[in-house]
Amino acid sequence: MRHLKVALVTGAGSGIGAAIARTLASRGHLVVVTDVDRLRAERVAAEVGGHAQALDVTDPAAVAATAESVAREHGSLDVWVSNAGVSAMRPFLEVPAEQVERTLAVNLQAVFSCGQAAARVMVAAGTQGRIVNVASMAGKQGRVPYLADYVASKFGVVGLTQAMAYELASHAITVNAVCPGYVATPMQERELAWEASLRGTTPDEVRALWIADTPLGRLEEPEDVARAVAFLVSEDAAFITGEALAVNGGAYMD
Ligand SMILES: NC(=O)c1ccc[n+]([C@@H]2O[C@H](COP(=O)([O-])OP(=O)(O)OC[C@H]3O[C@@H](n4cnc5c(N)ncnc54)[C@H](O)[C@@H]3O)[C@@H](O)[C@H]2O)c1
Repeated sequence: MRHLKVALVTGAGSGIGAAIARTLASRGHLVVVTDVDRLRAERVAAEVGGHAQALDVTDPAAVAATAESVAREHGSLDVWVSNAGVSAMRPFLEVPAEQVERTLAVNLQAVFSCGQAAARVMVAAGTQGRIVNVASMAGKQGRVPYLADYVASKFGVVGLTQAMAYELASHAITVNAVCPGYVATPMQERELAWEASLRGTTPDEVRALWIADTPLGRLEEPEDVARAVAFLVSEDAAFITGEALAVNGGAYMD
């Protein structure tokens, strides 16, 4: 059995990605903390004893170079977590084309190019790697207000995860997704403010609605997602691939 050691996380300077970096580090991984915001990456890397790297996931050449340099400098690339994501809330009829492009570029196309870059390095080295994509509960149901482009991107991630898992299985690389619910992060703070203004109510009332929508009765914590990611990259999940794991306190069951 091989110990999975070097893990790279995208968008790891904040929220869920930072929690994934902390959790994987606490379980013995050497973590490469990447984010488009270098200072954020450096802060989290210092906290977890990992390495910081500025990386904009929408730049495929930078993504490929980073995957290769991590394998070269640290001896292998065993785990890649595509976590970076963006959201903006607007009624469907008012979403501008530039927003659709941006959301799909960061949330879907970049997951594609990150997956290619990671898998190319893993295949070349014969690494039985693990890839995890952070999708969303909004990647399984579109009954979500004001997030049409985000929903489209996350449904795409779930499908892409299956296609990657299918093709990479012959290389003993597993590919899975996690689908979080209402997670307390800076992204959620922005969404609370947007949804409150679009509904003509307050962020506190929207938060109460989201908690009421969650059978386990609280907002999700970034660590709830991080522990599920840690499971998917562990030996316990060796025979799981192509899965989109709901981690949402029961807010959406499929
Ligand atoms: N918060 C939620 O409720 C929730 C629910 C389901 C899924 N998700 C998903 O979880 C992931 C993390 O979300 P979060 O809530 O922690 O958000 P966040 O905004 O707190 O953190 C996202 C991080 O990604 C980085 N980032 C943005 N664009 C980037 C780019 N082009 N390249 C590299 N990094 C970039 C940001 O700098 C930031 O540090 C996203 O994919 C999001 O869609 C979040």
